[in-house]
Amino acid sequence: MIHASKPKIWYGGDYNPDQWDKATWDEDLRMFKLSGIDVATLNVFGWSKNQPDEDTYDFEWLDEMMDKLHADGVGVCLATSTAAHPAWMARKYPDVLQVDFNGNKRKFGGRHNSCPNSPTYRKYAVRMAEKLAERYKDHPALLIWHINNEYGGAGNCYCENCEAAFRVWLKERYGTLEELNRAWNTGFWGHIFYSWEDIVLPNGQSEEWIDNGQTRTNFQGISLDYIRFHSDSLLECYKLEYEAVKKHTPSLPVTTNLMGAFKKLDYHKWAKHMDVVSWDNYPSFDTPHSYTGMMHDLMRGLKDGQPFMLMEQTPSQQNWQPYNSLKRPGVMRLWSYQAVARGADTIMFFQLRRSVGACEKYHGAVIEHVGHEHTRVFRECAQLGAELHQLGDSIIDARFKAKVAIVFDWENWWAVELSSGPTIALRYVNEAHKYYDALYKAGIAVDMVSVDTDLSGYDLVIAPVLYMVKQGYANKLEQYVAGGGSLITTFFSGIVNESDLVTLGGYPGELRKLLGIWAEEIDALLPSQSNRIVVTDKASGLKDEYACGMLCDLIHSEGAEVKAVYGDDFYSGMPALTVNKFGEGEAWYLATGAEQAFISDWLLGVCASRGIKPIVANVPENVEVTIRYKDDAEYLFVLNHNAETVKIDLGEISGTELISGSKLQGSAELAGRDVWIVKLG
Ligand code: GLA
Ligand code: ZN
Repeated sequence: MIHASKPKIWYGGDYNPDQWDKATWDEDLRMFKLSGIDVATLNVFGWSKNQPDEDTYDFEWLDEMMDKLHADGVGVCLATSTAAHPAWMARKYPDVLQVDFNGNKRKFGGRHNSCPNSPTYRKYAVRMAEKLAERYKDHPALLIWHINNEYGGAGNCYCENCEAAFRVWLKERYGTLEELNRAWNTGFWGHIFYSWEDIVLPNGQSEEWIDNGQTRTNFQGISLDYIRFHSDSLLECYKLEYEAVKKHTPSLPVTTNLMGAFKKLDYHKWAKHMDVVSWDNYPSFDTPHSYTGMMHDLMRGLKDGQPFMLMEQTPSQQNWQPYNSLKRPGVMRLWSYQAVARGADTIMFFQLRRSVGACEKYHGAVIEHVGHEHTRVFRECAQLGAELHQLGDSIIDARFKAKVAIVFDWENWWAVELSSGPTIALRYVNEAHKYYDALYKAGIAVDMVSVDTDLSGYDLVIAPVLYMVKQGYANKLEQYVAGGGSLITTFFSGIVNESDLVTLGGYPGELRKLLGIWAEEIDALLPSQSNRIVVTDKASGLKDEYACGMLCDLIHSEGAEVKAVYGDDFYSGMPALTVNKFGEGEAWYLATGAEQAFISDWLLGVCASRGIKPIVANVPENVEVTIRYKDDAEYLFVLNHNAETVKIDLGEISGTELISGSKLQGSAELAGRDVWIVKLG
């Protein structure tokens, strides 16, 4: 469990008493008690208050608040406050200020605003983390450290310190300039570097430009390495603070709040340095439930299935979306349990009390501006708080089991979307989501895994758009399939290595043998164009025909069985779907961007052939089902995302519903937006 002193699903969130007077504090505590809140995240943006100048540190408010919370049985998730530097620091040491994409030096303002390679920022951030750790190391309220906040949340930095640090990073990666020139193919467009000093950061002043919100580049090698470097630079800042707090509190867990499929940071690399993963979940009104499910699974996968923290969600609405719809009655509770159903051991909010000024005053909170507890939002929060107390320690630490894995790789994502051609329409996360969505709708459990994950426990591994094949990965996939596994991969796979250099000798490069195909050309279709997938293997369970588009690989079988072909254009009749027997297993290749009905029919067929089944068969649409496993106990979650009541047939499954205490078996009705948590058996 996250901390032995709180053996239940933690309930609470970001709390900013530093912005309020003491009379308000007492009201807050009263209302925390009423709503079952037992964890407060403190000090997220307290730096400017706690260190008003270079030499003065003053933690009086925090001392008092930590004591008060403890006296009321509320634990503290203590933030190090380093996500927004104080104004005096910006005035005195401008190296903390970032230089933006266009080369403009920023002034003081915003947040997530420090240059990660600023010696001043690093020095004072670490000092602050250490001061806090020294001061509160024995405080009984302290449960966990929250380093910084949403690293990478604002712009990247392109300052001189970053440029110098980039050169050092490159020297470590490549050793020599010759090697770097080779890896980046700098012979192209006369880019040969003669000295490390020739290398400048890729931005709007050099190699890159922004097109429709998307970063485009002339030089994939340098742009890819800059993203890696920037992720590493921020990670370095995190690690320095991590070590600073660990020095004084070696056994307290440390986290930083992540953001799901957040592009700029390689979270697989980050998670190795986190004791527990935590993340902030802010779906929009119309975000598909399966997308949120995928994000939870992605976050759970960062530490191989270890339970994670839901660090932030809004109880009602955001302020920063274009249209900040309220969560409808019951939705906050439903989405909270969705997180628990997928591995969260905490339910926390941003924010506990709505602020009075600045941009987050219209962001939802447990305590609304009216200030009392007689609100819809408060009542819903209090109900959930009571339920989480009732659930006690039953579910925490319980694990998730899946027979299907979807491979998700940040570096591959960067490379796919930095690519100049063949299409701007290709979005890596969307492609992963198509597969996830099909499995989600069928009620089949999925793990989101990295390229480092051991695949031997999975019956089916899906690696959508595996454009970048890292060293040794083709071999790993071959062994997995040879040992009896099923692999699915798609168009635009096996194309480049880690430096974005094409693997010569025919696509899909290193995967060619495993897939038993050769892709000779890649066609890109306009959004208005489409082709057809004509199914040739009638025994496959697929329908006769489906639409496809975006990209069409023109492939030749080199031993793979052809299951479907293109229906149109000059490559009509060429394979669109193949499967290659390899050792004891099989490797599938989908050559084109297929309509969702195809992905779903195909995937469910493959699952059926591998004996991969849904947890509960034939659940109504928009009903999500998962199981968490703990020792011998199994907890079934059934979540009704519909506004209406649905009838669910549990089949052979039966057990006790933990919130109502009622026995469930056979068919039963689940109200709109309601949830069952059933202890099976
Ligand atoms: C993020 C931040 C919080 C707050 C919320 C608002 O998650 O971490 O400080 O700004 O967004 O949604
Ligand atoms: Zn910088």
